[in-house]
Amino acid sequence: MTTQVDSGHRPHTNSTRDANRVVIFDTTLRDGEQSPGASMNLDEKLRVAEVLEAMGVDVIEAGFPIASNGDYEAVEAISRLVKDATVCGLARASKKDIERAGMALKPARRKRIHTFISTSPLHMRAKLQMEPDAVHQAVIDSVSFARQFTDDVEWSCEDGTRTEHDFMCRCIESAIKAGATTINIPDTVGYSIPEEFGALIRMVMNRVPNIDKAIVSTHCHNDLGLAVANSLAGVANGARQVECTINGLGERAGNAALEEIVMTLRTRHDKMPFTTGIKTELITKASRLVSQVTGMQVQNNKAVVGANAFAHESGIHQDGMLKNASTYEIMTPESVGLTESKLVMGKHSGRHAFRRKLEELGFAMDAAALDDAFKRFKDLADKKKDIYDEDIVALVDEEARENDRIRVVSLQVVAGTKGPQTAEIELEIDGVVQHHKAEGDGPVDATFKAVRALVPNTATLQLYQVHAVTQGTDAQAEVTVRLFEDGKSVNGLGADTDTLVASVRAYVNALNKLLVKRQKRAPEALTA
Ligand code: KIV
Ligand code: ZN
Repeated sequence: MTTQVDSGHRPHTNSTRDANRVVIFDTTLRDGEQSPGASMNLDEKLRVAEVLEAMGVDVIEAGFPIASNGDYEAVEAISRLVKDATVCGLARASKKDIERAGMALKPARRKRIHTFISTSPLHMRAKLQMEPDAVHQAVIDSVSFARQFTDDVEWSCEDGTRTEHDFMCRCIESAIKAGATTINIPDTVGYSIPEEFGALIRMVMNRVPNIDKAIVSTHCHNDLGLAVANSLAGVANGARQVECTINGLGERAGNAALEEIVMTLRTRHDKMPFTTGIKTELITKASRLVSQVTGMQVQNNKAVVGANAFAHESGIHQDGMLKNASTYEIMTPESVGLTESKLVMGKHSGRHAFRRKLEELGFAMDAAALDDAFKRFKDLADKKKDIYDEDIVALVDEEARENDRIRVVSLQVVAGTKGPQTAEIELEIDGVVQHHKAEGDGPVDATFKAVRALVPNTATLQLYQVHAVTQGTDAQAEVTVRLFEDGKSVNGLGADTDTLVASVRAYVNALNKLLVKRQKRAPEALTA
């Protein structure tokens, strides 16, 4: 009997595997984190991993350990944290990459090495400068080597949708012979269309003689907006693993969105009789967390998790909804964990209630961090009468920055029509408080100039965005600042009832992330 690995939750045999169970492989922390500006620090990655595991994700791709020390540490820490899901590390077809992934995954209860190499004529010629035979040998060598670290090995043919079929089948057959238990077919450049991608998966299922010994997987990018449709076409044609990300985060236009795949399979079970292990009620929580830690806002009309996904504005729709919700609602807001923004607390709420609320929202803190967060909560409650869940989440997110080298001590701004606008700032930099006053073209400009005088940098500002966390003029403003330096961009987030304070916090948060990036070892050219 052939032993395989299916959901990552437990090894099983072909005969015991539920033929309609789709493995959800989340790559928010790897491919998602590769998207411009979406970098996360260790603490943020751990929070995301925790939610992914709670949601029932089968495989968490935690990073690309050879890419940087930060990635290595994240894969190792997530391997220690996660108990049920399989933790996966990415590696190119090189011994160094695979060794590094194997080491980072060591503490994991269930570990997977995901190794890949390009197989399309274009990539082999232009990128790898390797002949097909050499690539084929590299497939065998890399998979065999990865098996020395774990018996759960995934192999991907990068640029799969532009690969010649004969060569793809030859590589897959050899990868399985060498010990691969999952075969992933990426649409790396988001070029395929559903009928074609479905046919590609069917072709692999029909032509590769030992394909029954592996699970076939999809990994679709969204350059033409077809990542989810392509992934589902893959499932309809035999794939039983889908690689996806929360909010569709990922390189360029992103990857297939986990929430859309899962909710399609749930809502259209009549046409697609497949199941996943995802607790869909945690989708909104995961989406908000990822949006918050990456600073990548979810567009209002995004399927499943957009702010308008369950909003009914037109009179006709509202009338229908009041008579019978299913007139205009194909899934319930509750099924994705969307509840009304609840008034949680005000200035009379005590420490105990605050701690309970944090637990409810999924935050665990030690006593010192709780004290700090509670103090900030009280400060906020003095300024803002009604405190909502979103306010608390924004506040805790600010609190989580204990390792920051730069901190905002105070900000005083003169704004209005009588110019000049000035900003006077105090920053604590590596433990020393420094002060500067600057004039600017408006209060935000003055504030950012004052920061730049204290923390000189060549980063360019790519994005400055403000949005209200809740409703009302006393709402907290959440500001996103994206900085670009040395080919890398980072997003910083800041929240406060004062938009300028939120702005400086976001700017400083982004600068702290840039400092972390500068400290990391410059990775060799990475191709994933
Ligand atoms: O898009 C891609 O081809 C990838 C591979 C590493 C699977 O991300
Ligand atoms: Zn990818």
